Amino acid sequence: MKIILLGYMGSGKSTIGYSLSKSLNMPCIDLDEYIEDKENKTIKMIFSENGEIYFRKKERFYLEELINKGDSFILALGGGTPCYYDNMDLINNSPLTISIYLKTDIDTLVSRLSDEKSKRPIIAGFTSDELLKEFIAKHIFERSYFYTKAQHIVNNVTLDKSIKQIENLLK
Ligand code: S3P
Repeated sequence: MKIILLGYMGSGKSTIGYSLSKSLNMPCIDLDEYIEDKENKTIKMIFSENGEIYFRKKERFYLEELINKGDSFILALGGGTPCYYDNMDLINNSPLTISIYLKTDIDTLVSRLSDEKSKRPIIAGFTSDELLKEFIAKHIFERSYFYTKAQHIVNNVTLDKSIKQIENLLK
């Protein structure tokens, strides 16, 4: 079984993934970290040295590599992973795979991302929370088409509640 967590940057995919990993006793893989290990570069370096298109190709390549593995694990995607190539179809058509969208409100995302912009090239250039909020609102609107292809949507208010909801989904 593979549990795939998706959602916008700052929605807590990795935090929730690592927490579920303990309660479900399943390994958790963070796709960004996996790419960084394999490429031996940070995401920030990949974007600045090779560009976003190159990153998206690598992201697809490593997603496919992981999806085709026989193992069970929790996989925290990057915020943009669902929106490129046919990544959501790849995930949803893979046997014994469950996709979950962590739907998070915009104010929560802005407050989390405001201090954590530097590692994230897509939002690193925003100088005010107001501009960041406007960008996130539009970006989520565009990305929702892909995010809502997930088999389940969790209303992601607090970490504990989201973890409980996911555990219930799996019963
Ligand atoms: C991205 C999200 C990031 C990372 C890259 C691009 C995006 O992952 O994959 O910076 O396009 O939303 P997180 O959602 O883990 O920050």
